[in-house]
Amino acid sequence: MKPVKTGLLGLGTVGGGVVTVLTGNAHEIARRAGREVVISHAAAKEYDAGAIQGLDQVDRITDDGFAVVNDPDVEIVIELIGGYSPAKDLVLQAIENKKHVVTANKAMIAVHGNEIFSAAQEQGVTVAFEAAVAGGIPIIKAIREGLVANRIHWAAGIINGTGNFILTEMRDKGRDFADVLQEAQERGYAEADPTFDVEGIDAAHKLTIMGSIAFGIPLQFEKTYTEGITRIEQQDVAYADELGYRIKHLGIARRVDAGIELRVHPTLIPARRLIANVDGVMNAVLVQGDAVGPTLYYGAGAGSLPTASSVVADVIDVVRALTTDPENRVPHLAFQPDSMSDLAVLDMADVSTAYYLRMQAVDRPGVLSAVTTILGNLGISIEAIIQKEPEADASHVPIIMLTQRVLERNMNSAITQIEALDTIDGSLHRIRVEALD
Ligand code: HSE
Repeated sequence: MKPVKTGLLGLGTVGGGVVTVLTGNAHEIARRAGREVVISHAAAKEYDAGAIQGLDQVDRITDDGFAVVNDPDVEIVIELIGGYSPAKDLVLQAIENKKHVVTANKAMIAVHGNEIFSAAQEQGVTVAFEAAVAGGIPIIKAIREGLVANRIHWAAGIINGTGNFILTEMRDKGRDFADVLQEAQERGYAEADPTFDVEGIDAAHKLTIMGSIAFGIPLQFEKTYTEGITRIEQQDVAYADELGYRIKHLGIARRVDAGIELRVHPTLIPARRLIANVDGVMNAVLVQGDAVGPTLYYGAGAGSLPTASSVVADVIDVVRALTTDPENRVPHLAFQPDSMSDLAVLDMADVSTAYYLRMQAVDRPGVLSAVTTILGNLGISIEAIIQKEPEADASHVPIIMLTQRVLERNMNSAITQIEALDTIDGSLHRIRVEALD
């Protein structure tokens, strides 16, 4: 049989990795796919030819992505440029030309996926996106196929390697936030704009995709609650430790009676949970299905070869399905397009969770009781309280509390009232707490 010709858009960190994996493992890949897979046409504005192993086996390299997607010989387009433009136009053009697409572009799928999948469905082609979520971990495959028998209750994941690397280094080595971020950039983990990592946008893109395939809802990035890790202080990391917790930047997708929760925020999780011990740049996703119970997926969430592993897996899946009827392929969002659910994504104020609260209070009788009265009036139960020694010459003492689960709306109201007390200095720091049991 003739080799399958692919067209590659982008020769950066992931694109270079894909060249290396596709050429280096060509024999194994052909044995698995049933056909040889070659890169017949690649496009990149700039690239480091000397750094990409196997680049000499790419037939043709240009700087024009549209030449690749319009190349009649190319059957599968691999989009690894990232971002919205020109990636989206190139992908839509490839689909119009009836080419299958493999992409690692989480931002494009999370924001424009509904439009892209609908165009692909019309043309009878596949858009595969395993590498868009959690890098080298086959989490899309796991949720969409391995767990297909289950009603998924929730999924919670550490899905941004850069953020996890920063939190781990802050905890283990007391390192400074900016210094660790710079190292993540140098290692090629961070996004081109690292605020996407530290402000949770990258994780929200990935969570949006996971939520859709877990519950069969359309992609709704704009409704995903997104909070970054930039306000986490060294003392929060230390107090969390003291209370038996770790702070992780989690993406949580949960089905509750009222709708779907999609939220990304720093979260205290019990230190004894396996996922609490996922450190450095590694990612992990915990999925709770009704039949299987909890399952945990762990691996490299970023980096050249791990991400290429997922991209090439998609390419092989597409090659294997080239001769199947479009109706018989795995649906893009796991559920048949005419069976999607219209369950609402909940506003964060309507989400229930437990809380870690840290405040600076005047050290005199009655102060704590004023705070607990406010919480009590709003039906908020306290799980634990710690009052720390004041620092030398300080007029205020740190008070740390853990609460039980409460509606965020009520907690917002409690925080406003507590901050208004003249015995409380400055703003109150709140971090959500999840038991993940
Ligand atoms: N910037 C991302 C991360 C890369 O740090 O996880 C993988 O999506």
